[in-house]
Amino acid sequence: MSGGAFPQFTSRLAFILVAAGAAVGLGNVWGFTYVAHKNGGAGFMLAYLAALLLIALPAFLSELVIGRIGRASPPRALHNVQQASGGSALDWRIYGWGGVGAALLILSFYMVIAGEAMAYGWTALTGGIKGWTPDAVKSLDQAYKATPVPGLFWGGLFIGVTIVICALDVRRGLERTGKILMPVLFAMLFLMVFYAAQTGDMVAALAFLFDPSDLKLSSGIMMEAMGQAFFTMSVGMGGIMLLGAYMGEEVNMAQAAIWVLIMDLAVAVLAGLIIFPIVYAVDAAVTPGPGLVFITLPTLFVDLPFGGLAAVVFFLLLSFAAITSSIALLAVPVAWLEDRGWSRLRASMVMGLLAYGLSVGSVFSFNVWKDFYPLAAFGFTSETVFELIREGVNNIILPIGGLAFAVIVGWKLPRGQVRTAIDVRSDTVFGLWYFAVRFIVPLAVSAIFVNALVGGD
Ligand code: PHE
Repeated sequence: MSGGAFPQFTSRLAFILVAAGAAVGLGNVWGFTYVAHKNGGAGFMLAYLAALLLIALPAFLSELVIGRIGRASPPRALHNVQQASGGSALDWRIYGWGGVGAALLILSFYMVIAGEAMAYGWTALTGGIKGWTPDAVKSLDQAYKATPVPGLFWGGLFIGVTIVICALDVRRGLERTGKILMPVLFAMLFLMVFYAAQTGDMVAALAFLFDPSDLKLSSGIMMEAMGQAFFTMSVGMGGIMLLGAYMGEEVNMAQAAIWVLIMDLAVAVLAGLIIFPIVYAVDAAVTPGPGLVFITLPTLFVDLPFGGLAAVVFFLLLSFAAITSSIALLAVPVAWLEDRGWSRLRASMVMGLLAYGLSVGSVFSFNVWKDFYPLAAFGFTSETVFELIREGVNNIILPIGGLAFAVIVGWKLPRGQVRTAIDVRSDTVFGLWYFAVRFIVPLAVSAIFVNALVGGD
């Protein structure tokens, strides 16, 4: 697009579907169900809702505001915004470059999990899951991880698809994929919830997620809820800023952001209403863990009617959700290179391959480097490369990014400029949001950051 007009989505709906596609991903299904399970359900839900509304939503809107004013890839948008606002000593582009780096790091571990989802979908499709006894599922998982080959193969396939879609221009790539895959995703989710209601224990699942009589809340749970809110809304690395830059002036960004939040939350809750009824119907005592989706769930499908078909639909759904997020991730480094005069195709290939190269560290973390803890000397005694990247991004990089963007919008840009960009009619709504951006987000994010530093849970 260098030299030409900066691309724009064709409509409000297109923007909402693409942004929801970026937000809805592995974090909603794999991440949300795992952390909700681990943290005891209803109490976590409450903290998570608060974090979404008070932190992630205001920060999400801050990114859109910078994108709308800056109208370029994150580093250049930040530069434009800084110029327009009279500048300050620090070059704001560093947050944009940080976002480019964060996008590559997220992609590097994202493709490992997404690749596994695709591999499971393929196994379910070709072999059925008839033979998936609990032991068979465990050995499937072990075989997948025993050598780097399956991880590199499926991760490569996943990033390959991401590169192809990203290389198309913004309308044909990002926009069309969002428009097609998001409705399909919702259809599959409803189908699966219906299936879970028929075959599983929906009452127990609802009680687990929503019963206020059994609230467990701790500072650890609140921290985890905030980290999850950041990651799930894709806030803090410039991806949303870029979508804001592609968003037309006529789109009401506050309304659009609320729609994205609703869809993102809906997918997480629906994923919970698929997984927990099945868990409670078969074995309520399942120990929580990151294997919930890849080990526990497939084991449970085996005993259920049409379990083979359900497994295919479920893993397809997970792969689709991951693809719409990964193209939004790759779009950030790609837009940056485009701003520097690269063609979209070349930028997509180079950045995609770079992320693939980085993913080797995450793939190796499950086999060759299983017992390699690079930062053991600094107290991270059981974190593999995969864990270090994942936790580093969630606990440190995204919060710093979110904090920086909120501070820029809340404290550095003139209030009038922000007000015009966000275009909210009601003074009260604007005032509440502005307060959240100026005070709540920075304070809450600092709390997450301090927590990560002192090594709380
Ligand atoms: N929000 C995505 C998910 O929940 C992950 C993501 C993070 C995507 C940051 C883009 C940017 O899976």
